Amino acid sequence: VDPLVVANWKMNGSEQLLQAVVQQVDGLAEATSATVVLALPAAYLSLTKAFDNTQIEWAGQNVHWLTSGAYTGEVSATMLAELGVGWCLVGHSERRQHCAETDDMVLAKTKACLELGIRPIVCVGENLQERQAGKALEVVSRQLLVVLKDIPSALAPLIVVAYEPVWAIGTGEEASPEIAQEVHEALKHAARSEVKALELRVLYGGSVNEDNVKTLMSMPDVDGVLVGGASLEALGFRRICEQVAGSV
Ligand code: PGA
Repeated sequence: VDPLVVANWKMNGSEQLLQAVVQQVDGLAEATSATVVLALPAAYLSLTKAFDNTQIEWAGQNVHWLTSGAYTGEVSATMLAELGVGWCLVGHSERRQHCAETDDMVLAKTKACLELGIRPIVCVGENLQERQAGKALEVVSRQLLVVLKDIPSALAPLIVVAYEPVWAIGTGEEASPEIAQEVHEALKHAARSEVKALELRVLYGGSVNEDNVKTLMSMPDVDGVLVGGASLEALGFRRICEQVAGSV
């Protein structure tokens, strides 16, 4: 499978940045085997129609589990699908932390995406305390299995998982390639125990930058990266995409 680079802008960016990033990475996605996905703030997703002629793919950063209703400020999977958005982050640790998203909400959001043919990027990751207590594998496996246990197994191949250790997000301290490999391998193993023969794609996220991406991608079970801070600079992000594309 082709490697995947997902940019997570979080609550950052501008129309101008969108133009600049598209300009940098467009030809690249066409010329290489890597898939480039930009997860934009909801406010910018409607602008992506102007880039229909590119190979870049689009993601929401969050979605509600219902299709419509009295939920001020929320965005439904129906709306994302209407805009031609093919992917959506689900259960990012910032949402689990600051917006009290539970495993059950993550499951419901994943289901809402799958019903509309939107590919969920389910984010999992342990915090520092859990890692120090030796519970990392247990935590991430639980977060993944809550989702896999309750969706039709025929749809499981549409799910991509992002392993994002909370202690590595925005800290400049990425997980070592060995840690990433160990966790990715464990996630794939857990996935197969639930859905036989599932070839789960697992991305690594947390302080990925142009200096560490190559080593991370060299690990056998790192299938791509989810890039936060370093995706906000167009040229730097292009260099990350180039290295991911070159890693195959
Ligand atoms: P970071 O964020 O690359 O800035 O650490 C990654 C993420 O939270 O998706």
